[in-house]
Amino acid sequence: ITRALRGNFFDFSEVVSSSADVEASARYLEDGIMLLNGGKIVWLGSREEGERRLAESVTAIPLDDYREKLIVPGFIDTHIHYPQTEMIGAYGEQLLEWLNEYTFPTEAQYHDLEYAHKMSQFFIDQLLNNGTTTALVFGTVHPQSVDALFTVAASLNMRLIAGKVMMDKHAPEAVLETPEQSDRDTRTLISRWHNHKRLSYALTPRFVPTSSPELLEKVRAIKADFPDIYLQTHLSENTDEISWVKSLYPEHERYLDVYHHYNLTGSRCVFAHCLHLHEDEWDCLSETDSSIAFCPTSNLFLGSGLFNLQASWHKQVRLGMGTDVGAGTTFNMLQTLGEAYKVGQLQKYRLSAFEAFYHATLGGARSLHLDDKIGNFDGGKEADLVVLDPGATALQQLRSSNSKTLSEKLFVLMTLGDDRNIYRTLVDGKVVYQRPA
Ligand code: GUN
Ligand code: FE
Repeated sequence: ITRALRGNFFDFSEVVSSSADVEASARYLEDGIMLLNGGKIVWLGSREEGERRLAESVTAIPLDDYREKLIVPGFIDTHIHYPQTEMIGAYGEQLLEWLNEYTFPTEAQYHDLEYAHKMSQFFIDQLLNNGTTTALVFGTVHPQSVDALFTVAASLNMRLIAGKVMMDKHAPEAVLETPEQSDRDTRTLISRWHNHKRLSYALTPRFVPTSSPELLEKVRAIKADFPDIYLQTHLSENTDEISWVKSLYPEHERYLDVYHHYNLTGSRCVFAHCLHLHEDEWDCLSETDSSIAFCPTSNLFLGSGLFNLQASWHKQVRLGMGTDVGAGTTFNMLQTLGEAYKVGQLQKYRLSAFEAFYHATLGGARSLHLDDKIGNFDGGKEADLVVLDPGATALQQLRSSNSKTLSEKLFVLMTLGDDRNIYRTLVDGKVVYQRPA
């Protein structure tokens, strides 16, 4: 044992297949003790038993006292663009204009390794300051963007998945490549980073409109060569985008059919947004065991549409939460869950606090096929966690003092919460962020 934590612990004991089962999976341990060995969770239980175990140790073990705090598994962000950090909150456009107006010019700067390194550091700090310990991340078309990001993540031994964007048309020259170059650069990055420490590589064709058939053919071939590789892309975000896909690939009936045709569906394939899916596309995601990243702040900010959570349960599709910065408006998962609730309200779907926290932790882990490693506090899991301060502001304290149940307290956190509620973040058993006093 190398470290012990005392506090109130909240997590989910197991993966569930319906929203009705989420609450039964919720676990709350008041005033308990967690024992860590390096980067692993060894044990979690009552304070009495924990103190007994600590007393048996011959060496002194540091005990962090978080008595007034709520300790939850590190948040998992299943869709985010690190090279859009500096353009968050860009005014006035919907998806396609927003990409041309703001995104592509911003991403063009990442050809510069020094700049990419500086922004990687800033980006990882933002994740940690917001309690996010694992993310599935887009780089830019430039391989050096991903080298920079993985270098920073590796130095913290973070569990991070990322990839360089692959795109060969319908964008400025500065962010385009040829299919051959894309293939070479991607394979080099895979050999350098995939399964290095806690890092994994994700093939990252941006979306159908920036992909030629030749490029998608390359992605297919690389995916076939690396069975445990991830794939991340965008799907059915905006209605103009969907019409454009139809005009570019008229031989395919639906948007998802294009990806599916190139074998770019399946386990470890994560599709962001999925707002305007046809029933056939839902079935295809389900049958291929693909995953969805639900990005409420982005979908509202770009006016893209409302995600149908109900359908994701009904069709049994793996689902995680995404911030989608810089179309998303926050790195903070509490705020993201608060917006997810409002997306539900507009469709008469009642997102409970338990369900929301499930998607941000164990559900997200499952969507990335990592629920054997992260997502809850089972013994043997990796020690990535967040210490939340539920009463970080006067308003939160007032409101919390009026909440009777745990569910209500969690709901107040996701409704009023933000980065002020993140008290400590631990990655690999080590404190990597402390809220300033
Ligand atoms: N579709 C293609 N590229 C992007 C992107 O960078 N952000 C979002 N939200 N959608 C996209
Ligand atoms: Fe995105």
